[in-house]
Amino acid sequence: MKKINGNFYQKSIVSIDQFDAHDIEKVFDVADSYKKGLEKGTVFHDLEGKLLTALFYEPSSRTFGSFTAATQRLGGGIIPIQGVQFSSVVKGETLEDTIRVFASYSDAIALRHPEEGASKHAAEVSPVPIINAGDGVGEHPTQALLDLYTIKERLGRTEHLSIAMVGDLKYGRTVHSLSKLLSLYKNIVMYFVCPKTSQMPQDIVNLIKKRGVKIEIVSSIQPIIDKMDVLYMTRVQKERMDKKLYESIKDLFILNGRMAGRMKKKSIIMHPLPRIHEMTTDVDSNPRAVYFTHEVKNGMYVRMALLKLVLAK
Ligand code: NCD
Repeated sequence: MKKINGNFYQKSIVSIDQFDAHDIEKVFDVADSYKKGLEKGTVFHDLEGKLLTALFYEPSSRTFGSFTAATQRLGGGIIPIQGVQFSSVVKGETLEDTIRVFASYSDAIALRHPEEGASKHAAEVSPVPIINAGDGVGEHPTQALLDLYTIKERLGRTEHLSIAMVGDLKYGRTVHSLSKLLSLYKNIVMYFVCPKTSQMPQDIVNLIKKRGVKIEIVSSIQPIIDKMDVLYMTRVQKERMDKKLYESIKDLFILNGRMAGRMKKKSIIMHPLPRIHEMTTDVDSNPRAVYFTHEVKNGMYVRMALLKLVLAK
């Protein structure tokens, strides 16, 4: 995929591999200005006359909702395709054909699809930019950007961080994008807390190691929790594995309020959501928990920034 290289205009956003630290700074600067503006009630018109298709082949609440909110907050319109069971996909239409059709109606397509590589494939045939809203077990680049934006906002830095990624690291796409994104910064130590049957893919481990990330693989949250700056919890991706594997790993790593209380004062607990078994609800009132209080809203600001940079000159 084309690197961003300081210029987002009309480019598809498929992978974190397209970004460097300057590109990320640019997204965050624009997101900051939208955040400030919305907080004081500014009405934006940057996407007036533009249309986004949100084409979702997999369930979604936040990503779908925030792409919709982001477009409308900028004065743009949206073609919401959520639940392809009501579309021609059930008649057997290919992804390529569906993409060509919606590219004729709209200026960009945010695509969520169960197959890894679907966004890249779509970008190759689409005359309008594709934004990857999650491609199977592949990547979720917009989630990683909102996660890093939240880390920067809450901790004041993107370097010198100890982060534990907990849960299903093989099938969870958010941690794939986030690890690659964090590897662009200095002094990052990542602790992977995951089952033996669901480890971070080797190609990602090789890449981030080469970039200087220090990796520790640990079998429990308990011994490391008090040293972490960021605890990034994830859901076991039930729909991407057989029942036997799911049953064997679903309850392995559970964060509760008592454990969360042992974390450093200036540290944060993150989760891309939805939360299932892996985090009890008593964690929510811990002041370090930022998933409902910051990550969700930041997702809208960051997607506003991306849409503006891709669609408006
Ligand atoms: C994530 C996803 O879809 O990958 N959700 C989201 O977009 N916030 C995480 C998940 O479903 O577990």
